[in-house]
Amino acid sequence: MSRLLVTGGAGFIGSNFIHYWIHRHPEDRLVVLDSLTYAGNPANLEAAAEHPSFRFVQGDIRDQELVEELLRREALETIVHLAAESHVDRSISGPDLFIDVNINGTHSLLKAARRVWLEGDKNAFPKPRFHHVSTDEVYGSLGPGDAAFTESTPYRPNSPYAASKAASDHLVRAYQHTYGLPTTISNCSNNYGPYQFPEKLIPLCIVNLLSGKTLPIYGDGQNVRDWLHVEDHCRGLELILKDGRIGEIYNIGSRNEQTNLDLVRLLCRSMDNLFAKRSELGDRYPEAPPSRGQLCEESLEFVTDRLGHDRRYAIDSSRLEGELGFGSTITFDRGMESTLLWYLDNEPWWRAVMDESYREWMTDQYGKSGSPPAGA
Ligand code: NAD
Ligand code: DAU
Repeated sequence: MSRLLVTGGAGFIGSNFIHYWIHRHPEDRLVVLDSLTYAGNPANLEAAAEHPSFRFVQGDIRDQELVEELLRREALETIVHLAAESHVDRSISGPDLFIDVNINGTHSLLKAARRVWLEGDKNAFPKPRFHHVSTDEVYGSLGPGDAAFTESTPYRPNSPYAASKAASDHLVRAYQHTYGLPTTISNCSNNYGPYQFPEKLIPLCIVNLLSGKTLPIYGDGQNVRDWLHVEDHCRGLELILKDGRIGEIYNIGSRNEQTNLDLVRLLCRSMDNLFAKRSELGDRYPEAPPSRGQLCEESLEFVTDRLGHDRRYAIDSSRLEGELGFGSTITFDRGMESTLLWYLDNEPWWRAVMDESYREWMTDQYGKSGSPPAGA
């Protein structure tokens, strides 16, 4: 049995990771540490809360004392570090929080792990592991003919978000090199799937269509991202946690480059088809273009570009594939359709996360009781 601390477990990837892990390793102890920012949602963990070996702790990764106490009291030997401020646009309008949470927060966790695992009772933690979840954005931006990012591509982060993640990667590496903290790092491409906050491109477009709003395409829409279904990301993390070499870095991706415009058009066609097949959707979503006799694509709107917008990301995950047998299992068409269906069928979820007063109430309830409110 393993005992894991998962930071940021109430966010998009974190909550998917928790569901994935409980399904695959029901015997393991799972403790989530999450401060429940706007992006952390207790409702994402409702199913997990039923599980006897799951525990949620509302708290901040910058609280070193709390983390040390959790590691000791729960005898946690693995940290899967996902907590971060994650949205590039927010980092452009307000970089300070990103520097504090992503850099100082990661440093605080590293200090806690070092103190408890390396300076405390070593026999209590015979095989510790700190896994840091990072991003392909640390490598910067590619031109059209450039080779995909490998683990030895030099870091050239362009946004405050990417720079803060790059700094956190360097700290993790330094703690491994200097103090011998057993660490691994993964740099993953763009994720999509259920429970993603509707500020990121795919869920934003889905909820905008269903609410009769336009689809904002930055610049010329030709920026390229390399999309991976979140469940495949979790599979990659599982392989690294199980057999990844200490001190190593692993890229995670599935060679699925799409321009933003192509991706949004695919989403539009899928939505049109679903509305044509399922007549009840017209009643449920009267504002959606198909309910008003329009094609979804008519909602596209080109808007001012993101400052410093990276042109292209592409990730080479040969190391993970070759060493640990990674391969993505969810095709883009299938993943997009299931994601679209998830948002269609979970309207209360996305309406609630977008309603701040409801979120505040939930966070308040959850923080006090230590488990999600019934029916949330
Ligand atoms: P998210 O924004 O959905 O979730 C972040 C979670 O961290 C939230 O639950 C939030 O409440 C929590 N959090 C934030 N600050 C905290 C703090 N100070 N203390 C404790 N908890 C805090 O993010 P995500 O998209 O799930 O990304 C998770 C991780 O994966 C991040 O580190 C991100 O950089 C990385 N990543 C994301 C993607 C992607 O496409 N979304 C791709 C590659 C890597
Ligand atoms: O590459 C991994 C990264 O992917 C993660 O590290 C980040 O946490 C995650 O947010 C994501 O960053 P991006 O900036 O690539 O994702 P986002 O969904 O914000 O944007 C995807 C692309 O779509 C990007 O080129 C900007 C564009 N876009 C985005 C929004 C929100 C638009 O054209 N319109 C929009 O409204």
